[in-house]
Formats: sequence, C-alpha cells, structure tokens
Amino acid sequence: MSSPTDVESVKLLLAEVNTLGRLVIGNDGGESARKKLISAAEKLIIAARTPGENLYLTAAQPFLNGSISAAYSIGCFDCIPSDTNDDMSAGEISLKAGAEKALVVRIMRVLTSSHIFVETGRERYASNHFSRILGTPENRAHFQIQNTIVGPAAGALGAYLETHNLRSPTDHHDSPLQFALKTPYDFWGYLKEDPMRAKMFNQSMRSSAIVGAAGIPPFPFADELKCDSEEEVLIVDVGGGKGQALEFIRNGFPELKGRMIVQDLPEVIKDTNGSSHLLSSIETMAADFFKPQPVLGAKAYFLRRIMHDWGDEACKSILKNLVQSMSVDSKILVNELVLPDENCERRMALNDLVMMSFGGMERTESQWKALLQEVGLDIRNIWRKEGENLSVIEATLRS
Ligand SMILES: C[S@@+](CC[C@H](N)C(=O)[O-])C[C@H]1O[C@@H](n2cnc3c(N)ncnc32)[C@H](O)[C@@H]1O
Repeated sequence: MSSPTDVESVKLLLAEVNTLGRLVIGNDGGESARKKLISAAEKLIIAARTPGENLYLTAAQPFLNGSISAAYSIGCFDCIPSDTNDDMSAGEISLKAGAEKALVVRIMRVLTSSHIFVETGRERYASNHFSRILGTPENRAHFQIQNTIVGPAAGALGAYLETHNLRSPTDHHDSPLQFALKTPYDFWGYLKEDPMRAKMFNQSMRSSAIVGAAGIPPFPFADELKCDSEEEVLIVDVGGGKGQALEFIRNGFPELKGRMIVQDLPEVIKDTNGSSHLLSSIETMAADFFKPQPVLGAKAYFLRRIMHDWGDEACKSILKNLVQSMSVDSKILVNELVLPDENCERRMALNDLVMMSFGGMERTESQWKALLQEVGLDIRNIWRKEGENLSVIEATLRS
C-alpha cells in the first residue's frame, strides 16, 4: 500500500467526520455542522492520499471540467436515462450521439471515477444525483460559461499578474479575460459579440449554483416594502437579466402591491421578452445602469450580482445614478456575497477570483460599508439566511 500523506490526521479526521456526520444525519447542528463535515471530509481525503496523488489530481483538474464539457457535446447528459435505475452502454451512447465509442469510454471513465455518473458494469453507465444536477439546461449553461470564458482566464491568471505588477485587475478591458482570450472586448462586449454566448450567459443566471437553492433573496419584502397603489413602483431590478430574481420575489410574496420592473441592456431585454419564464406581472425596460436611472422614487432598487462584476469606481457610478433617482423612502438592496474577514469558505473565495478574471471582485462587510458610504448611503441592515449564499445589504440615503 502507498503511504498516506498524514496517517495521524487520518485517525483524527475520521473521528471528526463520524461525529459531524451524525449531527448532519440527525438534522442537528444546522448549516455550520454541514460545512464543518465537508471541510473535515475534504481534509481526510487529502490526508489519506499520497502527496503525489494530491499533486497530480490538482494539476489535472482542468481535464475533469474538460470531460464534463465533452460529455455535454457528445450528449451523455441527454442520452443516459435520468432514472437512476436505468443504465446505458457506451455502444448505445455512441450510436445515439454519432460519437466514436472509444471516445465515449474515455470520457465516461473520468466522469464515473469522479462520481459524476455511476459505472454499472463494463462500459455501462447510469445517472446519479450529481449528473442530474449538471444536466439541467441552466446549470449546464452556468458550467459552460465558467469553462469557456472564465476557465481560460483562470489558467492565465499567474502569467497575467506577472505582466501587471502583481496587482488585482481593475480595468475591465485589461483583465485576465482579455489576456487569455485575446479579445479587445470586456466581458459584456465579449458576450454580445456572439448571440449564442450571450443567450447561454443569460440562461446561466437562472442557475441556483451561486444564488442558493431557495432563490428568494433573504429580505422580508412584505414587511419592509409597501406601495399604496398598484401604479407605484415597488422594485426595479437593475441589471436583472431575464427577471429571475423578481420571479422568485413575486411568487414568494404574492401579497406585494405595486409594479415590478426588470431592467437590463437592450439585447438582454429582447431575450427576456422572448422568454417563456417571464411572469406577465413583471415589466421589462431597457436601461443602462451607467446612465441616469429612468424610474424615479421606486421603493427599492434591487441589484443582484451586479456590483461584484465591477471595480469600485464603476460601482460608485452605478450607485450615484440610483441615489439621484431615490426618494426619502427608497432603499437600495444589494444582493451579493458578503465575505467574512476570516475563515472564508472556498466557494466564496473562488467566486472572488471568477470576478477577478474580468475585473470585478467580491467584497467584505467593511468594503461594502466604505463603498456605500462614499456615495451618500448608509447600511441599515445586512440580511442573511442560513443556507443562502447571498446576503441582502439594505442601504438608505444618509439623513
Ligand atoms: C451577473 S448578471 C446578474 C443578473 C441578475 N441580476 C441575476 O442575479 O440573476 C449581470 C447583469 O448585468 C447586466 N448588465 C451589464 N452591463 C449593464 C449595463 N451597463 N446596464 C444594465 N445592465 C447591465 C448584464 O446583462 C447581466 O444581466
């Protein structure tokens, strides 16, 4: 047997995994126990592997993403029955997809050994929970955007930083994305350049991968926002894409009175208007958030996953346009990650680098406070919910 990296730790971590696992199974200890279990289990894997395995598997990681991408292209996620009791052979997939059988086997080997799909026999495969999640159209779009746009930027991050004085990128036109993809466009221009790419991105924004399973922002909309009539504007979703956040808010709080408007770039609004998901009670409006806000005095200007796309200067200009349109009882609701100062979990830390790849960033509470204060806003509250990744930062005009 090859030697584990750290036998002593294997013993301790096994005990920890056992204790935490019991808590999680017993539905005790909440989200904190679940996260600790994952962390302990991951440390256990690292301790049990040999140092060489740890190195090799980390270095070869891009090919796991590559094999998922290849499986999408071959059609494995569509061909293999989603019912976990049914399976399919490599030969059948090959026939159905028109793909070389040996290629199917090579790709599926990576996926089954990575616990995405189950190997039920020689060259036979069945779905599992993981493959079913990866197979939904919006999660697939999310994965493909990560893999094809920010993935190459990730690979080039070190080289980019070496040529940029080891400073975080702040210029949208000179970020790892342009460095890796050799494009003159910023992220949004790069999407616009190819309508299929843009469509894929808009669809990816419906994925729950970052937003959290519930999808409803953790803010008591019904208690905190009130319109006297249906004609008043309750919420403007600034940069709201296909209206996915408003859809959850409308469905989650059917008692809310007042108009809900989703704003985005003209080409996105065109895509949104053609979407079967959009609720008839949600209005659409093309509006550039770097220009004055056309809707005055809404009860709330809601921005989900907008500010993290941009550096501080751009964020200030987006916020100033909103500040000018606010009335005394308007709020700005920023629905974003709030990074902890210590013990940041990997998902959040990685998302910061995803944003870095095109000149954006995730922010800590003190960074949010400083940013909002600079444009005359005060944080009234930060609303968090266990299990939801994104918080809601509620800001009002400084009185
Ligand atoms: C990361 S997405 C977030 C979408 C949505 N808020 C959500 O969380 O699902 C950022 C959105 O900002 C929009 N956007 C980018 N630049 C914009 C601009 N100048 N004016 C308005 N929207 C813009 C994009 O089209 C995209 O829909």
